[in-house]
Amino acid sequence: MSTDAKNNTALMEKIVSLCKRRGFIFQSSEIYGGCGGVWDYGPLGAELKRNLRTAWWNAMTRDREDVLGLDASILMNPAIWKASGHVETFADLMRECSLTNKRVRADHVDPQDGVIMNYTGAEAATGWKLDRVISVLMKKSEHIESFRKRVRLLIASNAGEAAGKPEEIVLLGEAKADAVERSVDYHPETGGALGPARPFNLMLKTYLGPTATEDDVTYLRPETAQAIFAQFKNVFDASRVKVPFGICQIGKAFRNEVTPKNFTFRSREFEQMELEFFIKPDEAIEIISGEVAAWSEGADLSEPQANWGWDLWHRYWVDQRTKFYEGIGLGGVLEYYWQTPEDLAHYARACVDILCHFPFGTEELEGIAARGSFDLTAHQNASGKSQEVFDEELKVAAAKLTDEQKEAMIQKRLAAEQSKVKGAPMPEADVRAWFERLFKGNYVPHVIEPSAGLDRMALAIIANAYEETEKTDEKGKKEVITVLKLHPRVAPIKVGVFPLLKNKPELVAKAREVYALLKRHMNVFYDETASIGRRYARQDEVGTPFGITIDFDTLGEKGPELLDTVTLRHRDGGEQERVKISDLLGKLLAQVS
Ligand code: GAP
Repeated sequence: MSTDAKNNTALMEKIVSLCKRRGFIFQSSEIYGGCGGVWDYGPLGAELKRNLRTAWWNAMTRDREDVLGLDASILMNPAIWKASGHVETFADLMRECSLTNKRVRADHVDPQDGVIMNYTGAEAATGWKLDRVISVLMKKSEHIESFRKRVRLLIASNAGEAAGKPEEIVLLGEAKADAVERSVDYHPETGGALGPARPFNLMLKTYLGPTATEDDVTYLRPETAQAIFAQFKNVFDASRVKVPFGICQIGKAFRNEVTPKNFTFRSREFEQMELEFFIKPDEAIEIISGEVAAWSEGADLSEPQANWGWDLWHRYWVDQRTKFYEGIGLGGVLEYYWQTPEDLAHYARACVDILCHFPFGTEELEGIAARGSFDLTAHQNASGKSQEVFDEELKVAAAKLTDEQKEAMIQKRLAAEQSKVKGAPMPEADVRAWFERLFKGNYVPHVIEPSAGLDRMALAIIANAYEETEKTDEKGKKEVITVLKLHPRVAPIKVGVFPLLKNKPELVAKAREVYALLKRHMNVFYDETASIGRRYARQDEVGTPFGITIDFDTLGEKGPELLDTVTLRHRDGGEQERVKISDLLGKLLAQVS
């Protein structure tokens, strides 16, 4: 492991430890040995997530006129998952270790060097037998005896009680095969030879109804998006909106990730924050506006325009989401991966992954996809319920087109279908039928989907806020201080309130007064124990951006001009200012909301 990798692993361990120690994130079911890939948020983690949810909800719907909220159920009719393609294709390609049956994602196997050892089988004094060939990669640095011990241990833990103790297992027919370099055919943890890649569906199955048979099977939703598509028509009809508009929701999603890893980054239960922004097909824009605006470097994306097609809407949402991340303190650590035509699903026109720096690498935080009309069309076909909208403006504009102009549009689309890189071209009859509906003002909306993970966002926020500094105390003793430089908007505690001394009732009473004044508006922490420096340090460690100290000046002991003023300390930089109690609320609210 390189020094950088070691440092990053150590950093991640410190972050995990801080999260547990200070009540951000705990292992689920810890007292029973945990529950793989599932995490619980403690008091501070719950506040952090709540602040992130609120920031997202406000940015995506409350502060806008064109996006509506939804709160759909986790369990849905399984027909939804058939129509969406999840039953058929929501799978990772997995390979199984021939030694332990442990699975690993085919694309998560890093190349390894070593020597291959083959065994014809294994047996134990208990009478247990393993009657098949096993191949294991022995690392170059590994000693043969410790390697054999390791293999026996793996076999024993896989076989369970039947095999007895690992040291009683005898490995049969040992033969050394060739050395291999950069091989991806051995399990990264066990070294066992990997079988062929096979799809493994990630949806968590459950039963809904009394019989618990295949008839009652449904799934815990693997994404929140499908409920938005399934409720599209209800929201549209109930809200009297016009395309373009969006529907967003926040909620739990479940995936049976085979290799949950990197703390909460890849979990089996997690929360998504998704927007489906419905737009007109480009052909409708062309009919109404005469042309579809083309994007060029530096184009103004701040105000949506009537002549925007999917490309500009997609870029607009990438820009909006970037601004959101800047507003919660993640602006400087983002990267963008524009998927290539080979990466894209056959129906997708573009997809950008917003990546963020984590100690374990630069990884996806959010995906923003232009998905055409794939989803609504799939539900229309499967349910038999029309997902079309009617657009009077389009109908009027189309009525002014000549037959030649209409035919030219059809020919342009037919040519585009023929030059598709992926997926079968739409048959000509279907293209003509689609245009016939379009010219009458009817179409199934297309969609832009910004899809973010709340748990990943929380982890990104904590990991990027984590800082260590060395400080020397009054006695000259050096110590490492941890500071979480959380943005005030997302910090779980906004301000700490501290009476200078706890045994002076006048100070305590004033501090309690300040605490009560602020508490109704933000999460405030009152602390009267330990030295003031210690109290500041405790709050720095959990990212509290402000500290208020009530001292003798507050009581007016140094003169009436300081009466009812407090010391406001800023976590970042540590500067302190004298502020009137009556000005505190306004000053703080401006920074934390
Ligand atoms: N509807 C589109 C969709 O679900 P996705 O890329 O599979 O797309 C979107 O998921 C986001 O959800 C990801 O960018 C990530 O932030 C989050 N996410 C996905 N799987 C996750 C997991 N196993 N654990 C934590 N977050 C996850």
